[in-house]
Amino acid sequence: MGDIIAISDSRTGRTYTLPIENGTIRAMDLRQLKTGPDDFGLMTYDPAFMNTASCRSSISFIDGDKGILEYRGYPIEVLAENCNFLEVAYLLLFGNLPNGDELKGWVYEITHHSMLHESTKKFTEGIRYNAHPMSMLVSTVAALSAVYPDARDVQSADNRLLQIKRLIGKMPTIAAMSYRHSVGFPYVYPDNDLSYTENFMNMLWKMVEPKYVAHPMLARALDVLFILHADHEQNCSANAMRSVGSSLADPYLSIAAAAAALSGPLHGGANEEVIRMLDEIGTKENVYDYIRRVKDGHGRLMGFGHRIYKNYDPRAKIIKWIAEQVFEVTGRNSRLDIAMELERIALDDEYFVSRRLYPNVDFYSGIIYQAMGFRPEMFTVLFAIPRTVGWLAQWQEMLLDPEQKIARPRQIYTGQRMREYLPLEKRTPVHAMEEV
Ligand code: ACO
Repeated sequence: MGDIIAISDSRTGRTYTLPIENGTIRAMDLRQLKTGPDDFGLMTYDPAFMNTASCRSSISFIDGDKGILEYRGYPIEVLAENCNFLEVAYLLLFGNLPNGDELKGWVYEITHHSMLHESTKKFTEGIRYNAHPMSMLVSTVAALSAVYPDARDVQSADNRLLQIKRLIGKMPTIAAMSYRHSVGFPYVYPDNDLSYTENFMNMLWKMVEPKYVAHPMLARALDVLFILHADHEQNCSANAMRSVGSSLADPYLSIAAAAAALSGPLHGGANEEVIRMLDEIGTKENVYDYIRRVKDGHGRLMGFGHRIYKNYDPRAKIIKWIAEQVFEVTGRNSRLDIAMELERIALDDEYFVSRRLYPNVDFYSGIIYQAMGFRPEMFTVLFAIPRTVGWLAQWQEMLLDPEQKIARPRQIYTGQRMREYLPLEKRTPVHAMEEV
C-alpha cells in the first residue's frame, strides 16, 4: 500500500484517508470532505500557485534548495559547455539529444523556416517606431496566427511540428525586425549559411557589407545564453502558454500570451530593470545606501530573488563566467563592478540571507548583452527567442497529457449577491468606481 494521509474533519467528526503520490495529494480528493449533501466540498486556496503542482512534466527539473537545473535529465552546466542551442532545442522538444543526422536535418528545417511573409513585414512597419521591442514582438507573433490559419489544427502531430519549426525559425527574424524598426534601419533577410545565433546577429547588425561575419566568441556566448534561457519548468510565462493553449488556441496566439507574461518586470523584464538599477546606483560607493533603501521598503533589488531558487541560480553562475570571456572581446562593462559589489554586500546582509535571496538569471545577463551592443529594451526579446522552445515543449506536453483539460481555476467569491435592480432614474451616485 502506498503512502496515505488521514484528515480529520472537525466539522463532521469524520476521518478521510487520501493517497499521497509524488509528494502531493490530489486537490479533487478533498471534494469528498463535505458538511452535508448541499455542501460543494472542500477546495484548496492557493493564490499565485505557491504550493500547487499544475501538471506532470518531464522537461526541466529544478532543485531550488541545491541550485540545480536539468533539461531532460542533463545538468545545465554540461549542456552549456558541450551543445549548441538548436541541439538543446531538439532535446527539450523530443526528449533526447539528436545524433549527427538528426541534428543536421533539424538545423536545416529551422534554417529554412526563418523567412517572414512580406505581409508580416508590412504589419511590423505599421507599428509606431518608438514602441517597446517586446510589444512589437508580442504583436507580430500574434499576427502570424493570421498568416498561418492552418495552425488552428492543434490536434495533428504533423501540423504541430510544422508550427514548432516555423516559430523557432522565425522568432529571431521577428526580434531583429523589431530592433531594426525601432532604430529606422532597413530589415535584413536571413542568411542560410549562418548558424542560428550568427544569423540573428546578421539580421540585427548587418549594414552595407556584402556578408556579415559574426565574432565567433560573441556568437558562442549568445548561443550559451540561449541554452540557459531555453526552459525553466512552470514559471509565469510557461503557465500562460499552457493555460492559453489548453483552450486549444493556436500556438502563435499562445506564444504571444506567454511572451506577454515574460515581458513583466517581475519575470523576464527584470534584465532590463537591472541595468536601470545599476545606472541609478552609479558607483560602487553608492551600493550600500541603495541596499539600505531597498531594505527600508523602497523598491526591490532587480535580478535578485526567485520563487523556486533559495540558493544561487545555476544559470547566473554560468553567465558570470561567460561575462569574463565576452569582456575580453568587447572591453569590460563597468556595471559589472557595481553588480559584483551589490552581490557581495547583499549576500552578507541578514535581510537577504534570511529570505534566501540570491542573484537570478537576469542579474548578470543584461551586463553581457549591453557589452555586446544590445540596448536594454532588447534584453527581454533576447530572452523570448530561446524561451520559445521551452514554451513549445510545455505546450506539446500539455496537449498530449490525458489528465489535462482546459485550465480553469476556482475562486472564493467575496462580492455581493442577489442585489435589487434599480432603474437608471432611481440610482443615486454611490462612487461606484471606488467601490469596485
Ligand atoms: N529585493 C528585495 N526584497 C525581495 C526581493 C528583491 N529582489 N525579492 C523578494 N524580496 C523579499 C520580499 O519583500 C519578501 O519579504 P517579506 O517576507 O519581508 O515580505 C520576501 O523577500 C519574499 O518575496 P516574495 O515577493 O514573496 O517572493 P516571490 O516568490 O513571490 O517573488 C520574485 C519572486 C518575483 C522573483 C521576487 O524575488 C522579485 O520581485 N525579484 C525581483 C525581480 C526579478 O529579479 N525577477 C526575475 C525573476 S527570474 C525570472 O523570472 C527569469
